[in-house]
Amino acid sequence: MKHTDIVKVLKDRELVGKDITVCGWVRTSRDSKNMAFLELNDGTSLKHLQIVIDKNEMSDIAEYMRLGTSLKVEGTLVDSVVAKDSVELNAKAITVLGVCPPDYPLQKKRHTLEYLRTIPALRVRTNTFNAVFRVRSVLSAAIHEYFQKNNYVYVNTPIITASDSEGAGEMFRVTTIGFSKDYKSEEEYDAADFFRRRAALSVSGQLEGEVAAMALGKIYTFGPSFRAEKSNTQRHVAEFWHVEPEVAFAELPDIIEMAEDMIKYIIKAVLERCPDEMQFFDKHFENGLIEKLKTVSSHNFAVMTYTEAVEILMKNEDKFQNKVKWGDDLMTEHERFISEEICKKPVFLTNYPKDIKAFYMKQNPDGKTVAATDLLVPGVGEIIGCSEREADLDKLLNAMEIRGMKIEDYNDYLSLRKYGSVPHSGFGLGLERMIMYVTGIENIRDVILYPRTVGTIS
Ligand code: 4AD
Repeated sequence: MKHTDIVKVLKDRELVGKDITVCGWVRTSRDSKNMAFLELNDGTSLKHLQIVIDKNEMSDIAEYMRLGTSLKVEGTLVDSVVAKDSVELNAKAITVLGVCPPDYPLQKKRHTLEYLRTIPALRVRTNTFNAVFRVRSVLSAAIHEYFQKNNYVYVNTPIITASDSEGAGEMFRVTTIGFSKDYKSEEEYDAADFFRRRAALSVSGQLEGEVAAMALGKIYTFGPSFRAEKSNTQRHVAEFWHVEPEVAFAELPDIIEMAEDMIKYIIKAVLERCPDEMQFFDKHFENGLIEKLKTVSSHNFAVMTYTEAVEILMKNEDKFQNKVKWGDDLMTEHERFISEEICKKPVFLTNYPKDIKAFYMKQNPDGKTVAATDLLVPGVGEIIGCSEREADLDKLLNAMEIRGMKIEDYNDYLSLRKYGSVPHSGFGLGLERMIMYVTGIENIRDVILYPRTVGTIS
């Protein structure tokens, strides 16, 4: 169907005075004695296009006025009579593409996000989701751009895997056969399955990413990761999009510098390319959002050790539901306190206790901590998990043994430490958490098309 995108119609002055065709869904409608007005949206822009209908020239317009109806409109584009710097389309012919009955759920101007979650197929037609998905798209493109400009190779790591890269055991099993009592043991059951051994959905592409980086130098992956953690919180989903760069010859300070540079680059890209969307979020979700992001993208992030953070948290223990001491994993309330109240900006917390972190992280000379960092941001908490990797084979084997891992499952990975091992580092950025940070949207379920969370899959 030949037609012009509404985003182009709203911006391109060359179209004024011309006859054009647009398509879209009716967002609002208003009727007066001689005239009727529709706001049409085709999804290409947050702003709608006003359609003006002269009722003396067009009869039977009732069907066009129903919210949610899809239309093709032919007409002449003119400067708006009332709104400055805007255009409207004087309709000459209207075709109904799809009628929309009065039980269309999006009748009100503003619905709660909770209600919209109950209609996932339709919520995308609201202004909020229109803006979320454009920001999501621009962020994704900017992430690729950043890495491509800086000599990184984009690699796709497997989604089905036999190894648990985070060692946390929170994986979704992949199987084609049901368990039955006829199998004498789990091993026998696994051996009868599709891969002849236990397989699962990957929680991270890191281990395979390391393989690629040990040949290509600088790589990144950008794909889905799966976590079967039963955390029913505002920032956990079972399926999320994961950006994982891996860099040969990079030590912890190098990767911290790169992570900060990348975050600033993608924030600037969204501010530049999504001005309407960002104004919308600033107005409806987080007052001062644009100013905050401008400041963040032009100032240094904070850096603090885990040990320093725990000292601060212990001094403020009356402010938390959960007390914390050295050696504990930090909860969201602690992470947010450090970034929101103490640093008041994104902060890299470094050198975590080795026992609460994954086996692959580089062991520090103190024997207690690892060269790892999490990037914590106000409003969200952790958005990046990062570390320098243990490049020494013996130390790595020792960390795996302590955790009771099956060494033979990791032979391929371990061979990297045998043949020309080099210092290297990488991180994982959760795309959805990044979107929460730049939009001010508080629940991760509202920044992904179909959220998968414990107990729900729609
Ligand atoms: O800190 P994580 O678990 O780190 C890793 O997976 C490393 N292998 C990354 C690496 O070094 N290549 O996860 C990294 C990020 C988190 O900071 C968070 O943003 C996101 O992934 N993430 C989740 N996002 C949404 N829902 C979940 N359940 C998430 N789990 C992790």
